[in-house]
This record gives sequence, structure tokens and C-alpha cells, in this order.
Amino acid sequence: MRALVTGGAGFIGSHIVQRLADTGHDVVVLDNFLTGKRENLAGISGVRIVEDDVRDPKAVEASAAGCEVIFHEAAIVSVPSSVERPQESHDVNIQGTLNVLQAARVARVRRVVFASSAAIYGEEPTLPKVESMRPEPISPYGVEKITSEHYLATWSKLFGVETVALRYFNVFGPRQDPSSPYSGVISVFVDRVLAGKPITFFGDGTQSRDFVFVGNVVDANILAATKRGVSGGVFNIACGARTTLVELATLIERAAGRTVARSVAPARAGDIKDSVADIDRARAELGYAPKVDVEDGLRQLVDHVRASR
Ligand code: UD1
Repeated sequence: MRALVTGGAGFIGSHIVQRLADTGHDVVVLDNFLTGKRENLAGISGVRIVEDDVRDPKAVEASAAGCEVIFHEAAIVSVPSSVERPQESHDVNIQGTLNVLQAARVARVRRVVFASSAAIYGEEPTLPKVESMRPEPISPYGVEKITSEHYLATWSKLFGVETVALRYFNVFGPRQDPSSPYSGVISVFVDRVLAGKPITFFGDGTQSRDFVFVGNVVDANILAATKRGVSGGVFNIACGARTTLVELATLIERAAGRTVARSVAPARAGDIKDSVADIDRARAELGYAPKVDVEDGLRQLVDHVRASR
């Protein structure tokens, strides 16, 4: 098949591109290279790269032509940046999704698989998070992801575009960029531990997340693109296990074979306290199973970062 991957030069997108290309599919990448990197696609053959923006409907429409599936990964992925610059986040994360759905309609794309987020659960205190819970986002980012999900479900009902939303929990792995103040915590901690630099907990470090290795997320995307009878669905994608930041730091230190100093700083605005997924629906309906657990994933990541230095 031919697939479009928006944000295909980014962290998660590039891993999806790699899997598709490795399994013989034609891939079109649409990326504005603001956070995506050409080096993330180096050595992957059979990929057409379009340098343009999901905010431009014409660019999305042109990239979608002839594609059977769109994996919509392009986004501003940071909760705090959505709090600081909500308009920009809105434009990319909501208008971008609408443009993808419109392009899918015009280009007669069979299915759109969307990168949604655990951030949609927000303040809902019950753990684990189940898809049937009422979304209560506490950040613009969470609002943008749940709004996008509503657009997907509506396009599927109104126009017959098949859609699947995958609610990613905290994804980590090679190619996640540690260099921005908004970078994912694992990329930052691994980078700092390997460099022997101190790490900081925003809050007291007792907050918890369901960290999921990127390879598992790629598996989920392939299933979501191909499984029959799941259109209009939303699925948690995680490991179903909860790790506090303090535990995470210790696991990373163990994988790296060294310890570093730890400090605390004020908690971030819009931050949720605890997050862990119920993944029964994804298991039952998509056939998803996380093959790599957090410790294995951390070991793979530490080895990768060490080798690439
Ligand atoms: C992350 C993703 C978001 C995804 C969501 C799903 C990133 C950048 N964000 O948001 O796209 O939709 O999971 O659950 O990947 N922290 C520290 N010290 C640091 C960095 C972070 O204590 O140096 C803390 C944060 O305050 C937060 C936790 O670590 O409590 C996780 O932060 P982060 O990795 O940015 O992820 P989320 O905000 O959960």
C-alpha cells in the first residue's frame, strides 16, 4: 500500500515510516522540519519527502493523493508549550487534523490513524484510565487531542472515512530529542545520566506515567491501519504499568551503570499527577500486545544513545 505519514521525520513518525518501508510499502512523508529531522529518515529507502506544513490544506491534499492510509503524527507534542503558546498549538494540533481529514475525504483515503494522547483524561482521578471515561483535559494540548478525536469520529460518520484514534501514553525510544525544554522526561534523563549531569523532578518525583517503548506504538499503528471493524474507535496504547519518576530515574541509572545528583523544582502548569492505562480494549479489538517492557526499552535506549555519541 501507499501511506502518508504526517510528521514522518519526527520521533514516532520516523519509526512508523521505517517499519512501513521495511515491509515493502510506499511512503510519503509530510514534515515541516521544525522539530523533525532529515537524519531520522537517513538510510530508509522508498520514501518521498514533502517539506511542507499540515496547517496548509493544499499541501496535505497533494501529499495524500493516491494514499490508502494516513498516519497523522504531525503535532506540537508538548503540554507546557500548549500552555505558553495556545494559538500555535491549536493551529497545528486542531487545524492540522481537520486538514488531514478533509484531504482524506477528497483523496478517497481508506483510513486515517491519529496520534491522540493520554492527556485527554486530564483530571479524571480514576486509575487505570479506560477509554469509556469522560475526558477532562487540563491543558490546551489535551483539549486539542480530544477535539481532534471528535473530528475523526464525525468524519467517519458523515463522510465514511475510516478513522482510528490511538491514545498514546508516554512514548520513549531512540530519536526522541532531549534538547528542548519541552522534551519528554525519559529522553532528558537518559541524556543527563549518560553525561553524568544532575536530573530535576518537576514536583516531588512521585508523579507517575505509563511509559511505552516506541516499537510497541509502531505495532499498534500497523494494527490500527489494517484491522477490520475498528473504524471510529479509540484505543489506549501503553504497557498498562505505572512508574513514578523516582523509580524511572533509578531504572535509567541501573541501565546506564551510574548514578547522578537529583533535585526538585516546582511542578509544571497543566501537568497531570498520575497516568496509567487499561489496555484491554486494544488487546481485544486490535490484537495489540506490548512486546517490549519499560526496563527492556530503557536498556535499548541507553545502548542506542551511548552508541550514537
Ligand atoms: C507526554 C508527551 C505528550 C503525550 C503525553 C501522553 C512529550 C514531550 N510529551 O506528556 O506528547 O501526549 O505524554 O501521556 O513527550 N518532568 C520532570 N523533569 C524533567 C522533565 C519532565 O520531572 O526534566 C516531569 C513532568 O513535569 C511530568 C513528567 O515528567 O510530570 C512527564 O513529562 P513529559 O515527559 O513532558 O510528558 P507528559 O507531560 O506526560
